[in-house]
Amino acid sequence: MLPFHTRQTNPSFPPKRRVFSVQTLQLFYSKPALRWLPYLLGLILTLWLFGPYLLHYGRNTLPSSAPQSAPEVLSVRAQRIRDAYVHAYASYKQDAWTFDELLPVSGGSVNNFNGWGVSVFDSLDTMWIMGLYELFAEGLEVVTQATFEVEPGEYAPFFETTIRYLGGLLSAYALSGEPILLQKADELGASLLPAFGTRSGFPMYAVNPQTGDTRGGWTGAVLWAEALSNQMEYKYLAHLTGRAEYFDKTQHIMEIMYNASITEGQFPTQWDAKTGKPSNNQFSVGAYADSAHEYLLKQWLLTAESEPKTKALYLRAAESIIDTLLYVTPNRNMLYVTDANNGSPSFKFEHLSCFLPGMLALGVHTLDLPAHTKELHSWAAEGIATTCWLTYADQASGLGPDEMTMTRSSPYSKGKWTTLLAEWEANGRPSGVPPGLGPSNPEHTPATRDYRADKTTYLLRPEAIESFYILWRTTGDEVWRDRGWAVFEAIEKHARMDRGYASVATVDSTPVKHLDEMPSFFLAETLKYLYLMFVDQDIIPLDKWVFNTEAHPLPVFEWSSKERLRFKIPPKETTARNKN
Ligand SMILES: *[C@@H]1O[C@H](CO)[C@@H](O)[C@H](O)[C@H]1NC(C)=O
Repeated sequence: MLPFHTRQTNPSFPPKRRVFSVQTLQLFYSKPALRWLPYLLGLILTLWLFGPYLLHYGRNTLPSSAPQSAPEVLSVRAQRIRDAYVHAYASYKQDAWTFDELLPVSGGSVNNFNGWGVSVFDSLDTMWIMGLYELFAEGLEVVTQATFEVEPGEYAPFFETTIRYLGGLLSAYALSGEPILLQKADELGASLLPAFGTRSGFPMYAVNPQTGDTRGGWTGAVLWAEALSNQMEYKYLAHLTGRAEYFDKTQHIMEIMYNASITEGQFPTQWDAKTGKPSNNQFSVGAYADSAHEYLLKQWLLTAESEPKTKALYLRAAESIIDTLLYVTPNRNMLYVTDANNGSPSFKFEHLSCFLPGMLALGVHTLDLPAHTKELHSWAAEGIATTCWLTYADQASGLGPDEMTMTRSSPYSKGKWTTLLAEWEANGRPSGVPPGLGPSNPEHTPATRDYRADKTTYLLRPEAIESFYILWRTTGDEVWRDRGWAVFEAIEKHARMDRGYASVATVDSTPVKHLDEMPSFFLAETLKYLYLMFVDQDIIPLDKWVFNTEAHPLPVFEWSSKERLRFKIPPKETTARNKN
């Protein structure tokens, strides 16, 4: 099953503690009368550790390294976020156990992601990070029993299954070292491979894991986000298992990207599964494209900076986003990112796009960028994240709408951020604060907000909080934590139900109406980023771990020379990184 598997050891987390030294043992063995003592102590220790557990939980066993990694003292805020997770997950256990998701209003359950228990797989690593080891151990039972089957004629969506299930398994494995997690990741990764069987090598929308049958999505095209959000998972899986097929399938898509003839880093949102060429001319960081941008940067980071072409594509794409998609509203000076079709901006701003500030901030933090680029990316990150925050703070509930249309300048080109920046530079940087940044106060009157909410739902999504977290970590500015906490309190106030948490249908009128859903990403991402923002320890340092697009942290690894030979990865360019 795992021919080349070498167990991943995690250098920094959880910390290992030495209980007995060799000298202590030698002392015991040198005195015959004491020889039985270690055995007795061992027995007592075993009963003490596992006794209560065996009594209460039957066949479950605690993960071997578990008790060493829980933070010993939790801040009040971290504790409250952990309580929120426990409330959500306990409700799922009570009313929806091993179904995919809880229906928090009706108390029902739903199988909407293959029926394998996505809430469990997607949040194993959250449980581990929060020190909820008993829940984690129960989750391992579910993993152990998984067969990854769907009904004949049904299909597992490739993208969602990869980022939630495979990403969840790999991250939980990296954190805990439990072998079953890797075994199941390997099983699942292999059974999804037929998705790549198109003429171009782009993945199909969905695949039946038993038969290998595939089917396309409703657009009939391959979405860029779906083609480019499996490289972290499959490369790490290739590294853990040694299976070249995992690497080859996912890397082939990168090769298509390296070769693609596109205008200045503007990767379009749709591609043709047969020809491997772009099939539309929409440029976006929203739903169809979002995580593809992220994976360009994150592949470079995850593989310890060994694939310079992906970094180059990231920088080109980021530059293009900044040059073509960023606008500032005329009255409130709100910087935002929109999408453009054949060069025409839509002025739509999606909550999903609120991941962008976090990605840019991570790039600033990890790449050696020229001073001007660094400044530009930092401003963009700060300005857009502030707008994301305002869209929350403006609403009666304190929760942000899912999609907005922003007020445009007249003519609209006057609101283009790079144009405004150039004017500001030419005028000698008046006030020292670039356009689109600066003081920002919530606006409670919809008519004067500079945007209209097209979708008034808050779907328990993570993107704004994710960016607040990365910005807080990388800049140290407490304002991001304050904002994160305000969002958490709004979630507690308006989304918490007797059972779990529910998406909010009406963010700007209270009491809010609810939707009968608790998406697994609330457990996987929203609560994880919040917890990491308030737990005192830096459990997942950004230079050692890289979050996949479902907030599953994977450890940075180096390709060994054997792997480079096997997977045909060019040798690391030692001169690629210019220290400045
Ligand atoms: C990319 O271009 C190179 C050089 O022209 C070619 O050898 C390779 O097959 C191309 N790869 C893909 C996946 O199109």
